[in-house]
Amino acid sequence: MAEKLIIFDTTLRDGEQSPGATMNHHEKVRLARQLDKLGVDVIEAGFPASSQGDFEAVQAISRAVTNCQVAGLCRSVLSDIDRAWEALQDAPKARIHTFIATSDIHMEHKLGKSRSEVLDMARKAVSHAASYTSNVEFSAEDASRSDWDFLVQVVQVAVDAGATTVNIPDTVGYSQPQEFARLVRYLQDNVPALGNEVVLSVHCHNDLGLAVANTLAAVEAGARQAEVTLSGIGERAGNASVEEVVMNLNVRKDYFQIETGVHTEQLFPSCRLLSLIIGQPIPPYKPVVGPNAFAHESGIHQHGMLKNRQTYEIMTPESVGRAGTDMVLGKHSGKAAIKARLEELGYSLTDEQLVTVVEAIKRLADKKKRLYVEDLEAVVLEEIYRLPD
Ligand code: KIV
Ligand code: ZN
Repeated sequence: MAEKLIIFDTTLRDGEQSPGATMNHHEKVRLARQLDKLGVDVIEAGFPASSQGDFEAVQAISRAVTNCQVAGLCRSVLSDIDRAWEALQDAPKARIHTFIATSDIHMEHKLGKSRSEVLDMARKAVSHAASYTSNVEFSAEDASRSDWDFLVQVVQVAVDAGATTVNIPDTVGYSQPQEFARLVRYLQDNVPALGNEVVLSVHCHNDLGLAVANTLAAVEAGARQAEVTLSGIGERAGNASVEEVVMNLNVRKDYFQIETGVHTEQLFPSCRLLSLIIGQPIPPYKPVVGPNAFAHESGIHQHGMLKNRQTYEIMTPESVGRAGTDMVLGKHSGKAAIKARLEELGYSLTDEQLVTVVEAIKRLADKKKRLYVEDLEAVVLEEIYRLPD
């Protein structure tokens, strides 16, 4: 039987840290309900100690969802943990997520703490959280730029104090996939509980465009929780996107043999809802959910697609909740696609008429970036059915 990857969605916390992506209370609750429907396992609903608004959003989301676990983020500060626990009271399953930076650069310049102080703070924070719940996640911020042996020490301390999930973030998107996989293996080899009683999680940022690749490399190396966001929104260049991680595992089940509980046909509706809420369109080239992800313009591709969709589609648009394939009309379109589209519209042309229409379409496409069905109909009416002057 295939193993399961826990999908931890942080759209409402790390995602909301994306410039211009702030959401109001009602929007957050609405999106949380959609994430619940999508089938993610954990929703990180916010950072309760950071503001009254975040506290109330985490509280409302805890009351609104029915299936997912709800996590609240906290620094390794006892009062943050108390506040998070208060906000999570009504969640069906609550998780406290506490973090502290472990790289020398963060410890020295951001925290002003020594290694032993950080170890102490991590121990106290995790054991305080564990006094409330057995569902405690610990994150070593900037783990990928931390000294590996110090990281082993911190992780061991967190595990001994009661963490049930340990998260290894590539906070600044610095890691390379094979290197990140090595780190994941190193931690499992040196902290025996990791990958056994304690879930090893990863959280990758996209500064060098490797968030999804690093996540998948870590999963191959044994990570069993991936932290992701819808459409990959998040700080700076964003986080690993849920739709890309899930569809890689889904399309390449033969390779990974790992399942998720995500209902893939809810992926596009979820990203679309996010886009409407934050008022930012999904970028055209975004894999899986972008407007061009299932659009075929070249005549050769369109011809292949009309014969067998698998020639140029490795997943169906329907499987991710999209209406269907988009055969784009343009100067690269071939006779076969134009004929098929005309037949759908109810026009049956002779070969000679078809050649005339294709030529006219190509002339029009030279002047206009994108052609629509209305343009095609206008060409047919003009070229084929026009009344004599
Ligand atoms: O990127 C990061 O390190 C984080 C942690 C708080 C998990 O978002
Ligand atoms: Zn992050």
